[in-house]
Amino acid sequence: MRYFISYIIIKHTVLPVIMLRIMKYPGSKTSVVEDIQRIYDQSGCNVFVDVFGGSGSVALNIHSRNIVYNDLNRDLYILFTALKTHFPSFYRAANALAMDRQLFFDYYDGRIVMDNEAPEVEKAFSIFFNFNAGFGGMGETYGKKDKSLYGTYRKNVSNLIKASHLIGKMKLENMDFRVLIEKYDSTDTFFYIDPPYPGKNWYVHNFTADDFMELGREVMVIKGKYAMNFNAPDALPVRVFGKPSFVREEENHNGKPGKTESRKIAFYTNVMKPSGKW
Ligand SMILES: C[S@@+](CC[C@H](N)C(=O)[O-])C[C@H]1O[C@@H](n2cnc3c(N)ncnc32)[C@H](O)[C@@H]1O
Repeated sequence: MRYFISYIIIKHTVLPVIMLRIMKYPGSKTSVVEDIQRIYDQSGCNVFVDVFGGSGSVALNIHSRNIVYNDLNRDLYILFTALKTHFPSFYRAANALAMDRQLFFDYYDGRIVMDNEAPEVEKAFSIFFNFNAGFGGMGETYGKKDKSLYGTYRKNVSNLIKASHLIGKMKLENMDFRVLIEKYDSTDTFFYIDPPYPGKNWYVHNFTADDFMELGREVMVIKGKYAMNFNAPDALPVRVFGKPSFVREEENHNGKPGKTESRKIAFYTNVMKPSGKW
């Protein structure tokens, strides 16, 4: 009888889902991975293509046998490729700084440089460091030397072994979304589409109104399935894509320390809704 009760309790306990992340990145979507997974599972597709992969926080947390990570930003491609092909030497460098606070800040302040036998690892490591130590994930702008900087870096380094294992199984691409969609489009492909926000120049590559129009035309004729998301208050996506399939409200921890804001994310999908709500 006791066993039966504890089974019920375990069965109905909602365990928090811990998301894997390896860097700070503006517009990172760990908070909506469960929504994306639900739509993907419902789609019946076997290939998950993260068209605007960014920090990889969706590709790293989605469950699929076949995952394609893509981003037009060359630095992200260099970093993900090093995590896939040169992991031991990359990890040695990253972990050395995670184990020694002084070394971390010496590197941060430019008093030391990383001397690695492979130049591609050296470059990938500096990209990783800049994404983690830069303001809000903007890879080129260093942030304030606040207390959380070193702790966040250590946390993200501790996720690297698992991340590298997952990235090892992914296909990595570095293409414009138009070329990528054409390459992978099939009835078995699911595209996750998280483009840059209109009017925000957060990335090396941003989006123009023309890019939006073209994305709109692409998804209209796609053979595969897709889920696409935008900030709900943005007017341009509504003008181009119409009324969203559903809107999700989520907590946004990117505000001031101790202050949690919420934001609404609008989802568009061509996957048939299951009975009930998304
Ligand atoms: C909103 S972010 C994606 C964030 C990502 N979902 C995450 O969780 O980290 C948009 C990404 O699109 C990339 N990008 C911009 N223009 C692109 C294009 N034409 N084709 C492919 N990727 C592009 C940017 O480099 C940026 O990383």
